[in-house]
Amino acid sequence: MSASDNDSALEVLSDHADDDNDSTIDESDSGYWAQEESTRSVTASIYDYERLHNRTYHAFHSGKYFMPNDESEQDRLDIMYHAFRLTLRDRLFLAPIENPTAILDIGTGTGIWAMDAAEAHQDATVVGTDLSPIQPSYVPSNLTFEIADADEEWHFRDKFDLIHTRIMMDTSLRSWPHFFEEAFRALNPGGWVECQEMDYNRTSDDNTIPTDSRLRFWEREWTRGMEMIGLGGYCRPDLVMEQMRNAGFINVICRRLKVPIGPWPRDPVLRQAGMFGLVNLLDGIHGISLKIFTGLLDYSLDDLETLLSACRREIRDRAVHSYWPVYVDQHQPPYTVH
Ligand SMILES: C[S@@+](CC[C@H](N)C(=O)[O-])C[C@H]1O[C@@H](n2cnc3c(N)ncnc32)[C@H](O)[C@@H]1O
Repeated sequence: MSASDNDSALEVLSDHADDDNDSTIDESDSGYWAQEESTRSVTASIYDYERLHNRTYHAFHSGKYFMPNDESEQDRLDIMYHAFRLTLRDRLFLAPIENPTAILDIGTGTGIWAMDAAEAHQDATVVGTDLSPIQPSYVPSNLTFEIADADEEWHFRDKFDLIHTRIMMDTSLRSWPHFFEEAFRALNPGGWVECQEMDYNRTSDDNTIPTDSRLRFWEREWTRGMEMIGLGGYCRPDLVMEQMRNAGFINVICRRLKVPIGPWPRDPVLRQAGMFGLVNLLDGIHGISLKIFTGLLDYSLDDLETLLSACRREIRDRAVHSYWPVYVDQHQPPYTVH
């Protein structure tokens, strides 16, 4: 299969998926404000970061999430945001919502999606939550950030029209059935949950990933480590759709997309997405690996660095047409009030 055959970035895995609504993104400048400390549910202790080999990790519920929260990781998250945004053809979400009045972004990271959502929907209130207080202080006035563990009971005063997650599945939350139950309670009737989730195991449609790939070895080892903490870094769309239905959701839709790694797609937008994907992996593989390999798999730092050097050489190989499968799961509660 040629590279161009891989370019169809959007694949629908379920019914009801014709609604290809564009969300209008208003790039106009909204008034920014500095959040008052009293409006943020933060205390000094959440800045008391765990440190490991010159990287920092979240302090609130310390040890739960294995990726760093330092500047380098924040850059990686923002780079990945652009890869996703291009893959989604500049849409923030695919759910058919015109004018949401309240939006929740669980595991908001640097808050970049939440900020863009707040700017695009200035009449909506937007809330972003995370374990790490790594969001900026100057944000659109309709946006607030909270430090909260989404695996616990949710305590939001108001309900939402859209609840969004991105790159959380099988790496962050420990219980997706719990997430879907809480989301069900937190949604307005007719609202949507949209999970934009990526499988960390790359694939290619034209078998260009070498059979003796060191990066494939890295993926297998990483997954082995993740499994030790009950995660895996892969998406199981069928399981997720079942969990959504079990929580009471209807109109469950799953779309499959591809975030390319490298500038191999012919489509110029996807080629750009591939450049962001490439930089994300080149720069981010250290942070993604460190705790898993040295903490769980007992690699020495030297052994890890040797493996990562081989992986980085392979990541740059333009003959490899790989991508991360991305699943956008959307679903609604029934229209009756629950
Ligand atoms: C891979 S990052 C994705 C961040 C953001 N959604 C994005 O797309 O850039 C995962 C984020 O989830 C947060 N996280 C992990 N476990 C969490 C939990 N139990 N509750 C809330 N946030 C969590 C992490 O701190 C991290 O910022």
